[in-house]
Amino acid sequence: MNPPVSLVPVLPDSAPFTPEQRAYLNGFLAGLFSYAPASAAGAAAGTAASTRLQPLTIVFGSQTGTAEKLARRMAKEAGKRGFAATVQDLVSYPIASLATEQNLLVITSTYGDGEPPDNARGFADALKSTALPSLATVRYSVCGLGDTNYAKFCGFARELDARLKQLGAVRVLPRTECDVDYEASFSAWLGQALTSLNTAGSASAIPTTSVDSTEPAPAPRGYDRQNPFRSRLVANRRLNAPGSEKDVRHLELSLEGSDLSYEVGDALGVVPRNDPELVDELLRQLHATGTETVSGSDGKMIPVRDALLTVHEITRVPSPLLQWMAKRTGDATLARVAAPDANGELTQFLRGREIVDLLAAFPDSGLTVAEFVPLLRKLQPRLYSISSSLKAHPGRVHLTVGTVRYESLGRRRLGVCSTFLADRTQEATEVLIFVHRNTSFRPPAPDQALIMVGPGTGIAPFRAFLQERRATGAAGRNWLFFGDQRAGSDYLYQEEISAYQNDGLLNRLDLAWSRDQGQKVYVQDRMRAAADELWQWLDAGAAFYVCGDASRMARDVETTLLEIIQSAGSRTPEGAREYLQQMKSGRRYQRDVY
Ligand SMILES: Cc1cc2nc3c(=O)[nH]c(=O)nc-3n(C[C@H](O)[C@H](O)[C@H](O)COP(=O)(O)OP(=O)(O)OC[C@H]3O[C@@H](n4cnc5c(N)ncnc54)[C@H](O)[C@@H]3O)c2cc1C
Ligand SMILES: NC(=O)c1ccc[n+]([C@@H]2O[C@H](COP(=O)([O-])OP(=O)(O)OC[C@H]3O[C@@H](n4cnc5c(N)ncnc54)[C@H](OP(=O)(O)O)[C@@H]3O)[C@@H](O)[C@H]2O)c1
Ligand SMILES: Cc1cc2nc3c(=O)[nH]c(=O)nc-3n(C[C@H](O)[C@H](O)[C@H](O)COP(=O)(O)O)c2cc1C
Repeated sequence: MNPPVSLVPVLPDSAPFTPEQRAYLNGFLAGLFSYAPASAAGAAAGTAASTRLQPLTIVFGSQTGTAEKLARRMAKEAGKRGFAATVQDLVSYPIASLATEQNLLVITSTYGDGEPPDNARGFADALKSTALPSLATVRYSVCGLGDTNYAKFCGFARELDARLKQLGAVRVLPRTECDVDYEASFSAWLGQALTSLNTAGSASAIPTTSVDSTEPAPAPRGYDRQNPFRSRLVANRRLNAPGSEKDVRHLELSLEGSDLSYEVGDALGVVPRNDPELVDELLRQLHATGTETVSGSDGKMIPVRDALLTVHEITRVPSPLLQWMAKRTGDATLARVAAPDANGELTQFLRGREIVDLLAAFPDSGLTVAEFVPLLRKLQPRLYSISSSLKAHPGRVHLTVGTVRYESLGRRRLGVCSTFLADRTQEATEVLIFVHRNTSFRPPAPDQALIMVGPGTGIAPFRAFLQERRATGAAGRNWLFFGDQRAGSDYLYQEEISAYQNDGLLNRLDLAWSRDQGQKVYVQDRMRAAADELWQWLDAGAAFYVCGDASRMARDVETTLLEIIQSAGSRTPEGAREYLQQMKSGRRYQRDVY
């Protein structure tokens, strides 16, 4: 049987609109036609009902673009299944619209310690209001993106889901929580959520669809997370001078042979390989030779040594392994920390403790490789803020990577990906990469002034921004706050930054060396000292961007920014928060923090 003919005009793909504009306009056209009198709209097709599309709003909360990408994918799929879908960024989604929604899907990540991503912070605050109307006519479902390594896994998605329910909205499908390896859970939610909304809505009015509701959306093409590009490392240079406590690398990878391109603000995904010495130690602990076979990532049997090198995370202790060990050994401490309500104690137990320590503590557990491997998590790619502009370095991508090395429980520990890049690659080593688009972190308009706060590796995207603004002749003024431990050894990209200062691209530079004197001096101290001028820049429309450490620096910089808006901008604390919120909605305040 032929599918029903739709009378609804659809914009051609060649029309000069962004995907979001196209979806919105298509939705608008669909609305116009579907609500036309049955006699007019239904004349050729038989019934008006058969052409009516259900409205659907998909909102996303996203810090580094994953939820946004998935929201757009969902909208595309929804379009095929009889919905007129629009995608909305929570940064500009008016809370008043909630009560008017019929079908609402929320995809959001969680940041900080169970907090909303930056673009959803205003919405989250507004949602707490006691003056919100009932949402009894809203059908919805929530998909959370998170990482089970964090104590408050999908914390914001949980909070948001609970609040929508409390306001009377009808949850048509229970919340899905996706771990870093989100594909399977997200695809399942996508199919089920659209089916549930169809069923909950006026199903008879929806065109029949030939798409199986459980079928995942088509796989994206080109190089991506699932299909990374085999790039070659072409440079690996230490940026710190001898005597530094840090080992930050400038890395360059070739994009030759790929059609990969990136924009400044994007991140690069790197697929690491584990440390072979650690793999050998684990094999010894498991009394295995390494040739025993286990299931690989595509289900084919591979030697366990290869699986531990490339398929599984072998440092952080995964919860299934902890639970297995607690059960097998009967150990009281393990039983306590593995209990579902052991949040604080578990975090404490896991800090600085790796799988190798757990196996060493219980050598008689009898754990075999066949039991061990299925208890492990999949090895995840790491993201790095791209530190170059393609306009300045065609065919190359640069990274600025801080090598993670520390001591715990009397043992030297190595960060998986940063030491893979720093220590276990040589020139021409193959490195699997993909571009992670970060549309919520982009340079401002060319003539807009830009204030950048990027201590340590936080300098990475700002080096790229400066290269881009130089290459495009952007006229906006630039002000950089940079800092690290010591001027003598930790001034990353000193020559380039000085050159930009000398030739006028960098209008102002403030440096904060934390360990060159008795008292710590941080970037926010430099901001405070320049409060009046900083306010003048902001007042004249400058954008304010932050990159680097999320847990302390970015939080303290925001507090200082609020103080400056309050004092130099003569505002009340509430007024300063409102001003910052407007900066966020207007994309004048953007952060790339980790
Ligand atoms: C959007 C984004 C952009 C990023 N950009 C950059 C960038 O430009 N440059 C950069 O260097 N990094 C960047 N990162 C961080 C990067 O992705 C990795 O997290 C980092 O390189 C560490 O990965 P790893 O595999 O080397 O370490 P892992 O093996 O993942 O180990 C890191 C873990 O070790 C533990 N740990 C670390 N230090 C200690 C300690 N002293 N005591 C106890 N435990 C400790 C912590 O649990 C930590 O999570 C970015 C992250 C994101 C999300
Ligand atoms: N998730 C991960 O696995 C991972 C891996 C690597 C890095 N990171 C994060 O990325 C950050 C960046 O690392 P990095 O080595 O490039 O730089 P960094 O550790 O952030 O240090 C850069 C400078 O910031 C200073 N600083 C410390 N606390 C600060 C605060 N509250 N406010 C402002 N400045 C502060 C440091 O001073 P002092 O050190 O002298 O106090 C130093 O001078 C790390 O701090 C870490 O949190 C995360
Ligand atoms: C600094 C930082 C903090 C995070 N905090 C949490 C957290 O508290 N809970 C959680 O479940 N996931 C946390 N995550 C993981 C992200 O939510 C996850 O990577 C998500 O896929 C990101 O989606 P996005 O790109 O749309 O922002 C954190 C990630 C980073 C880099």
